[in-house]
Amino acid sequence: MTGLVISDLRLRIGQADILNGVSLGILGGEITGLAGESGSGKTMTGLVLCGLQPAGAVVTGRVEFTDSDRSIPNLLALQPREFNRLRGRRIAMVAQDPVASLHPMLTIGTQLTDHVRHHLRLSKQQATARAVELLERVQVPTPETALRRYPHQFSGGQLQRIAIAIAIACEPAVLIADEPTTALDVTVQAGILRLLRELRDDLGLAIILISHDLGVMSAIADTIAVMRYGTVIEQGSRQQVIQQPQTEYARELIAALPQVPPPGITTDAGGQPHPDAQPHPDAQPHPGVQPHPGNHPHSTRTGA
Ligand SMILES: Nc1ncnc2c1ncn2[C@@H]1O[C@H](COP(=O)(O)OP(=O)(O)O)[C@@H](O)[C@H]1O
Ligand SMILES: [Mg+2]
Repeated sequence: MTGLVISDLRLRIGQADILNGVSLGILGGEITGLAGESGSGKTMTGLVLCGLQPAGAVVTGRVEFTDSDRSIPNLLALQPREFNRLRGRRIAMVAQDPVASLHPMLTIGTQLTDHVRHHLRLSKQQATARAVELLERVQVPTPETALRRYPHQFSGGQLQRIAIAIAIACEPAVLIADEPTTALDVTVQAGILRLLRELRDDLGLAIILISHDLGVMSAIADTIAVMRYGTVIEQGSRQQVIQQPQTEYARELIAALPQVPPPGITTDAGGQPHPDAQPHPDAQPHPGVQPHPGNHPHSTRTGA
């Protein structure tokens, strides 16, 4: 079974202990939600799994990676060159801000085809075909036209899809998505979550979904891990963590959730609605799923 087993992962930058023993299991064909307040170490955990921690950081612990055809006992012991070969190909990350991760002066086509040509050693023609296929896969409309456009010509939701297309270009086993819906309108958000679910099911990806928003997690994650102060304080099935949280902190996070699930988001098959999830006359919209304040500058250009 593909996946990662993270044991006692620690990361120190200068005098600061950023990760204090993260232990976590991540399985292929599952979405593992990494929840927790801002600063709890979610992004840093994702970066370490890609070998992208800040220069000078001291990392200890063990990350066992099992791929379809081999197993690496400890990613943290790899030479930088070996990690470079793995990153993007077997383990890929979608950074928190898709706009920042794309070059503003290059077309989507150039960025996507350069990426697949570099990693998959394809001819220009093959790379274009692959780029079209990838945009279809992430449901960007009219892929051939999209390839000729620049990042500013897309909405936030479309850019997030394009960033996901780049991340899955080399058919990784593990996809880390860092707050993929945080900057998006609620309806667009639901579409991205549906896409992640499809990728999980169709490609058997192990997806690590990083979000500070337990509402997002409760809609989509198979497993939820709650982080606090650089450590995982609780991990279990979505149902376990949402319905029977073991820690006071998780209980508080869940108590702060709205009474209604975010609109447009349905729970997975088999997921029973939470008994408290009845619409409540006083229900406030979930703070995490408000339309982005001030509206995303591109949000009306090409739709979601
Ligand atoms: N480049 C860096 N150098 C030093 N400390 C950092 C750096 N990046 C993040 N941190 C610190 O690491 C901690 C965890 O950050 P992060 O993983 O980004 O949290 P989260 O994603 O859960 O909000 C925070 O206290 C943050 O200030
Ligand atoms: Mg973060």
